[in-house]
Amino acid sequence: MQPEPLNVWDYERLAEERLEAGAYGYFAGGAGDERTLRRNVEAYAEWTLRPRMLVDVAETTTATTVLGTDVSMPLLVAPVAFQRVAHADGECGTARAAAAVGTIMCLSTLATTTPADVAAAAPGAPRWFQLYVFRDRGFARSLLDQAADAGFGAVVVTIDTPFLGRRERDLRTGFTIPRELTVPSVAAGGGATGTTPKEMLALIDPSLSWKDVEALAAASAAPVLVKGVLTAEDALLALEHGAAGIVVSNHGGRQLDGVPASLDALPEVVDAVGDRVEVLLDGGIRRGVDVVKALALGARAVLAGRPIVWGLAAGGEAGARHVLELLRDEIQLALALCGCARPDDLTRAQVARAPAPGWTSAGAGLQ
Ligand SMILES: Cc1cc2nc3c(=O)[nH]c(=O)nc-3n(C[C@H](O)[C@H](O)[C@H](O)COP(=O)(O)O)c2cc1C
Repeated sequence: MQPEPLNVWDYERLAEERLEAGAYGYFAGGAGDERTLRRNVEAYAEWTLRPRMLVDVAETTTATTVLGTDVSMPLLVAPVAFQRVAHADGECGTARAAAAVGTIMCLSTLATTTPADVAAAAPGAPRWFQLYVFRDRGFARSLLDQAADAGFGAVVVTIDTPFLGRRERDLRTGFTIPRELTVPSVAAGGGATGTTPKEMLALIDPSLSWKDVEALAAASAAPVLVKGVLTAEDALLALEHGAAGIVVSNHGGRQLDGVPASLDALPEVVDAVGDRVEVLLDGGIRRGVDVVKALALGARAVLAGRPIVWGLAAGGEAGARHVLELLRDEIQLALALCGCARPDDLTRAQVARAPAPGWTSAGAGLQ
């Protein structure tokens, strides 16, 4: 009998065993030499925690709000494309898992399930929609209408993907999306199905600019966040052009190899933005203590991508839910041991740069 998975690393190993090599490489891989992919994870080890003692933590909660929406913890589900490649439960399974745990799922434009079907799978749960703006702008409008009709409460525009990053694992394995899986947005957008992620993402408009973000924000009833900000300059432009929130992200190391870890970019974005809009972060979150460090450095909440996919691949909806529960429990314990009864109690004083280089040696999952 397999021992019960105890953490995200265990789930990654299980997922690797269960997935076909091309699919695992697609989910796990990054761009180029994968420096940014590795750095995303390693950056957390370069901060240590400064816990406070003898604070009453008999009653603690991980609950918080993100853009005014109640969530059970400061961790949301990041948009990840093609989830039925990981498991037949796909996006509906992830949506039910997020709903069960009480957090927000962000659905990818490149989902293998329609926004309406995902909404029906977890009615009443908070959900956000990630938008890739396709060359056909009418089509972006129709996607937004579908998302609004299906009760998606915020739109997350991804701004770091004018072209797909060079992902050599996919080139080596020749990974393609299985023909039996439909990607409704791509089919409706006139794109080919049953081909490579690169061909599918060729629908995205590389001429997208801040003016387009401004127009989207003005036209959208739901708040619009921008995902993919890595500099103070772009954070200020996001504010200027109507973004209601910023996601500091390098797309999980899958776009431009050589950019900083999202955690490394977070402080300059937080300093630039102040408390004008909420700043979220994704990339490399594998432990509750990672979440606590990101919050102490000014993130309102984080999103996790691969960890949820590993849960889904290993055990469908139940696996995704277990990963979310494990992370929630880890966040709760980390907060309490830091002397914080709730996420809002964390301050910048609770983290410091790690003292010794030896401290940064890789964690269990990086062997
Ligand atoms: C397999 C895979 C597919 C992804 N698909 C999308 C997508 O469709 N849209 C998007 O904005 N981001 C996408 N992302 C990026 C995630 O939203 C997120 O930024 C990233 O996974 C965070 O890093 P983590 O996996 O280390 O948590 C994808 C990431 C992965 C791993």
